[in-house]
Amino acid sequence: MSETTPLIAHDGPIRWGIVGTGNIAKIFARDMPLAANAELLAVGSRSQEKADAFGDMFNVPRRYDSYEGIANDPDIDVVYVATPHPMHHDITIQLLNAGKNVLCEKPLAMNVAETREMIEAARTNNRFFMEAIWTRFRPAMVKVREFLADGSVGDVQYMTTTMGWNNPFDADFRLFNKALGGSALLDAGIYAVQMVQMVLGKPVEMVSVATLGETGVDENCMITTRHEGGAVATPVSLCVRAVAICA
Ligand SMILES: NC(=O)c1ccc[n+]([C@@H]2O[C@H](COP(=O)([O-])OP(=O)(O)OC[C@H]3O[C@@H](n4cnc5c(N)ncnc54)[C@H](OP(=O)(O)O)[C@@H]3O)[C@@H](O)[C@H]2O)c1
Repeated sequence: MSETTPLIAHDGPIRWGIVGTGNIAKIFARDMPLAANAELLAVGSRSQEKADAFGDMFNVPRRYDSYEGIANDPDIDVVYVATPHPMHHDITIQLLNAGKNVLCEKPLAMNVAETREMIEAARTNNRFFMEAIWTRFRPAMVKVREFLADGSVGDVQYMTTTMGWNNPFDADFRLFNKALGGSALLDAGIYAVQMVQMVLGKPVEMVSVATLGETGVDENCMITTRHEGGAVATPVSLCVRAVAICA
């Protein structure tokens, strides 16, 4: 893509493709009709059967039995990547190199090195690329940013943010399965971390503790951060096997 190639090169609704047919892909497809100027054109799955079932469920006209099918479809403008986290990196880079814009599920990748490569691919191809941190768009968060910008909350000195789920243990379930990116921090904690970053920016110092469960996955994790100017935050305390207690 050259620097002048427009992100969307046609009039009419933005044409979406989805990669993966799991839980969040279904919610995304269900809600697509609520978005103005958008059309769900295609779905890609590792199996034709699943692509067809998804297509029937959400009225998606093009169904591919591979993710490459989405990358190679010239009519798709932007792709929503909804696979487990360890699979985000490769497919996202493939899509960006094929000229697609990409909205990738959180967390973008498994580590910083993968994330940098994805960002580099977006820059090289001059494509839109975003992590699907939907909480940033909630009206309450928009209001928080307004309050921060107009100074009405003053100079923030301390923040605590908590995100957690109460899932029964299942070694095969994505949250507890290392091969599928299992991790309380990677699945839930990133919401708390990003909120601290939204308010206080990047930390200058950080320490953390976590409990590793029987599959070697962090089932909770608490981070303490210090920020320029002296503010501190505890941008997590999250869990996948317990109910959070706030005091
Ligand atoms: N924004 C949110 O609120 C939110 C909520 C939940 C999850 N998420 C994120 O969305 C992503 C997917 O989560 P999910 O709960 O939808 O997961 P899921 O139900 O397990 O679905 C993941 C899909 O990815 C595809 N896939 C590709 N390689 C796979 C593999 N090796 N094992 C299993 N599935 C594989 C499968 O689709 P095919 O078989 O059709 O290829 C599968 O249906 C994760 O990164 C998660 O963090 C975001």
